[in-house]
Amino acid sequence: MHRVLVTSAVAYLLMMGAQTVGAQTSPKFFFLQFCVGCHQYDGSGLPPEVPSLRDDLSYLIGSPAGRDFMLRVPGVTGAPGSAEEVADLLNWIVGTFYQGETYSPPFTAAEVIEGRKRPMKDPIKERLELLASY
Ligand code: HEC
Repeated sequence: MHRVLVTSAVAYLLMMGAQTVGAQTSPKFFFLQFCVGCHQYDGSGLPPEVPSLRDDLSYLIGSPAGRDFMLRVPGVTGAPGSAEEVADLLNWIVGTFYQGETYSPPFTAAEVIEGRKRPMKDPIKERLELLASY
């Protein structure tokens, strides 16, 4: 009897642990932990150094080159976590901060994996070139 109680207590603790881990890897938690220092709580960033995730995304999410850029900035390629978590994070950013309309499909884990293979060497230069092309 005693052993059964102990076993279920351990199972309960493990379950709670698993729930805590789930909560920690929610996109919002992820953003607060790894991105907020530069991009700020409301995604407004610190322009001109750190671009706003509220407005500037309009240049990016609509075009293949812009999506590719978003997947290859250092903050994204260097983000810890699985490709699924990073895709969820990007989709959360677009859903939470971006103020415009978007008809572009959600980011996928496969896109995150492709982006990680090609991290940017000079993001500031690439960003200027990209924006100049719009
Ligand atoms: C050390 C500061 C810093 C941190 C931390 C950071 N970023 Fe960034 N982020 C930047 C800068 C600066 C740019 C502009 C491109 C560049 O110069 O790298 C940028 C660009 C971006 C862009 C493209 C938007 C645009 O308009 O260029 C996205 C999307 C993005 N970051 C997401 C993230 C995510 C998600 C995280 C957290 C996992 C993160 N960043 C962490 C500084 C940061």
